[in-house]
Amino acid sequence: MSIKKNTEKLRNFITAFAKLLELTSQETEILSQGRILLLDLLKTDDWLADDFAKPHPEHYSQYLLHADSLERFSVVSFVWGPGQQTPIHNHTVWGLVGVLRGAELSQSYIRNELGLLQLSGNEVRLENGEVESVSPNIGDIHRVKNAFANQSSISIHVYGGNIGAVKRSVYNDDGSEKVFISGYSNQFLPNIWDRSNEILSL
Ligand SMILES: [Fe+2]
Repeated sequence: MSIKKNTEKLRNFITAFAKLLELTSQETEILSQGRILLLDLLKTDDWLADDFAKPHPEHYSQYLLHADSLERFSVVSFVWGPGQQTPIHNHTVWGLVGVLRGAELSQSYIRNELGLLQLSGNEVRLENGEVESVSPNIGDIHRVKNAFANQSSISIHVYGGNIGAVKRSVYNDDGSEKVFISGYSNQFLPNIWDRSNEILSL
């Protein structure tokens, strides 16, 4: 039995993000203002329903929490079981990644002049409450993993598209790549729109 969550928090975040995209289409502005919105969402951990926080025993999960009806952005919860990681991958759209529970490790890559993948900088550890950005303009290839071998972690991602339907790539260490369309782990979305109690109390 899952406990009633603070759906207002997620709804307000989504509304604020939609308003931001009404105001600007500049990526740098979206990432800087969006980062502030995501930092605020991560401050409290009372809004993510249990159905979207469940780890899978064999691989990481990505639960769609919201897709904008114009597919301008999507919000996803990534749930990492102990030791789980992504393949090396890109996004092709801007993205904000923030940790809600636990911590994660992100290693960036670039393609060198020979077409090979090489490490770009050191592995970054993102702690609970911290946010990082990705995009083709600022660095778009990385591998992400749970920082913990004995507990789950959850991060909340916002992308500049319906990320589960975006055609992108996964990479082998030698730089060879193949087409990757991630899809989502869930068939149903959280209902953030039942505002009946709020209206009744007016
Ligand atoms: Fe990623």
